[in-house]
Parts: sequence; C-alpha cells; structure tokens
Amino acid sequence: MDYLSQFEELKAQKLNLDLTRGKPAEDQLDLSSSLESLKVDEYGSDGIDIRNYGQLKGLSECRELGSMILGCNKEYVWAGGNSSLTLMSQYLTYLCIQGNGDGPWSAEERASILCPVPGYDRHFILSENLGINMIPVPLGGSGPKLDVVRSYVESDSSIRGIWCVPKHSNPTGETFDKETIEGLIEIFSNTKKKSMIFWDNAYAVHDFIDSKPLEDIFSIAEEKGNEDLIVGFGSTSKITYAGAGIGFIALSKSNQASFSSFYSALTIGPDKLNQFRHVKFFQENDLKEHMMKHADLIRPKFELVNKWLEGQVYGSWTKPTGGYFILLKTDPGLAKRVISLASELGLKLTPAGSTHPYGIDPQDEYIRIAPTACSIEELHSAMEVLVCCLGLAYQENSK
Ligand SMILES: Cc1ncc(COP(=O)(O)O)c(C=O)c1O
Repeated sequence: MDYLSQFEELKAQKLNLDLTRGKPAEDQLDLSSSLESLKVDEYGSDGIDIRNYGQLKGLSECRELGSMILGCNKEYVWAGGNSSLTLMSQYLTYLCIQGNGDGPWSAEERASILCPVPGYDRHFILSENLGINMIPVPLGGSGPKLDVVRSYVESDSSIRGIWCVPKHSNPTGETFDKETIEGLIEIFSNTKKKSMIFWDNAYAVHDFIDSKPLEDIFSIAEEKGNEDLIVGFGSTSKITYAGAGIGFIALSKSNQASFSSFYSALTIGPDKLNQFRHVKFFQENDLKEHMMKHADLIRPKFELVNKWLEGQVYGSWTKPTGGYFILLKTDPGLAKRVISLASELGLKLTPAGSTHPYGIDPQDEYIRIAPTACSIEELHSAMEVLVCCLGLAYQENSK
C-alpha cells in the first residue's frame, strides 16, 4: 500500500474533521427535544416552589432519577447543576481545603491519587490544578490491577484516593468486575488516613450492545460498613443534553453531613425547573427505551470504526459494548507521529499523552478515538485519514 501517495491526495482535499471529544451528535440531542416544551408545575412533591432558592440536595424526584441512573440507593444521591465534572471539582476542592475528618489534603506535605491508565484527561487536569500528586496504575480489562494498587497504597501513605470510571471506562471501555470492586474497598479501607474512591459512573446506562452489568459499589461497601469510602458521580449529559442536563453526586449519610456546609456556601440551590423537566421527561419516556434509541444511533459509528481498522494490519484496538470511545494502541513511539500526520490532513485527534497523568504516555502508544459527534459520512473520511496516517507512521518506522 502506497500510504505516501494517499497522504498527498488526502492533503489536497483540505479536510476539516474532528475525532477529539466524546459528545452526543445532533440526532442524539434531538431525542430529548420534547424537554423544552414540557410544562412543569410550580410545586414538586416536596411542596416547595421550584422557581425559588433552596433544596440544596435537589428535588427528591430528581434524586430518584439519579439513583436509577447510578444504580444505587436514592438516599445517597444529590441532584446538582448541569455537570458532574463540576461536582467532582467541588468535592475534590472540599477535600483539599477542608477534608472529611482527617484534615485538609492541602495541609499534607504530599497528597496523592491513583489514576488508572489509560484514563480520562479531565480527571488528571482537575487533580493537577489542585496540586494533587498523580500516580498511574494500569487497567487490566476489568478495572485497575489490584496487586499494583495494593502495593502502592501499602508503601505510600500520601495516597488518599483513586479515580475510577467503572463502566465503559473512558477510554478503555472496560467495566469493573465484582472482585475488583471488593478489592478496592478492602485496600482503601485500610489506609491510615481516610481515603476515597472517586466513582465516576458517567457511562452507567450507555450500553449499545448487551453489556456486562456493573455491581452497585455502595451496596458492596455497606455490607462491611465502608460506604464512607465512596463518592459517586454521574449525569444526564449523554442521556438528554450535554451541558443542559443534570449532574449527580452520591455520598454516604455521614459524608453528606460534612460536605453540606462546604457545598451550601457554593450554591443556594440547583436549577429545580430543569430537574423537574427531566423528571417529567422520564415519566413520559422510559429511560431504558430512551437509551436504546441512543444506542441505535451510536452503534453504527463504532461498527464503522472497527471495520476501517479491521481492513488494515497495524495496531490493536478496543471493541467496547458501550460508552463513547475506542482506544487504538500503536507500536511504542508511534502515537504522536500518527496524530501529527492526521493533523496535517485536517483531522483533529485528542493530543497524544492525554490518556495519562501529566500528559505523559510513557510508551507513546495510545490514541483515543471519539466517533459519536460526527456524521457517518464525516466518520468515514476521518477513518480513511486515520488509517492512512497509521500505515504511513508504521512504514516510516520500519525503514
Ligand atoms: C468519564 C467522564 N466523566 C465525566 C464527564 C463529563 O460529565 P459531565 O458532562 O456530567 O460534566 C465525561 C465526559 O466526557 C466523562 O467521559
């Protein structure tokens, strides 16, 4: 295959393509367009006027919606503003400045967090901005490798937590199994100072093929009285509207009590009109059926990426059953080159290294592909470009 000639031909086309961010496409957003025309009552079941301040934990019906999405007890769930990432940032900031009973993290000489890799770049940026030291730990197909997690936690008392995307993980696509969940709880329940498992369940209901279920970490933790270890997150960003949905945080009763004084200084209450609209929307639209409509729009895009990659011989890649990403693994030292070649052809890819803390992918081998946001036609062109650049990078490397 003459990738160099193909490269020149594609360059002449002056393409403008983007496979960077995991966003819903327009047709997915259209699935929720009736949200805007829903007439909401002024009073929720709590009897409060939803147009006014108040109800810090969110409307009780909306907390119930959050518990359905996150798959945990409603009593744990608060419904917040439009983004789970904001709630993560607020909770992490609270731990840094106030702490949850063991002093603020920022008062420590060093506070560290384990970061399963490849992982979600925004978790890493958030941690870095707050001065938290990040330690990468490998994922093994059904969650982080427990022996590595254990040896780090046992040998480094600065470790106060771990980031997890337990279902259709961003970007590996894996779902944590029960043994891993039990292992994480056991390991983190034995730390000298209180630690936390950040359970970012962003893709809790986002299967596009039959998928292995995720166990409820709160129920497992509760059995041994360890529910204080967990802080869960999720949102309707990829269910209804990204940026105009509802974010959720899930906390044990005692963690709620200590977080609420910090949180109540940040807001006098969430947007309950939007919360009520979402409640009504899911009274009229079954959540499972709604997600199946998303799945029908997303699945062909993942199939198309897989078909393009199967049609060539370089690299290996994931075949997720849900979520928003495919992870392409090249030979060591080639990811940056592929991404830079693609950029010359007008295809934007997430920067090499963004799957790792501090932007350092030590082997320079991971490329995250986010196929949902573009149309099938654009995806087709984007994959033609990516496959050409992959082939060219491998050929250059073999010279
Ligand atoms: C793992 C993960 N968490 C959180 C988010 C963002 O969530 P939200 O829109 O609720 O802030 C994303 C978005 O891509 C994500 O992949």
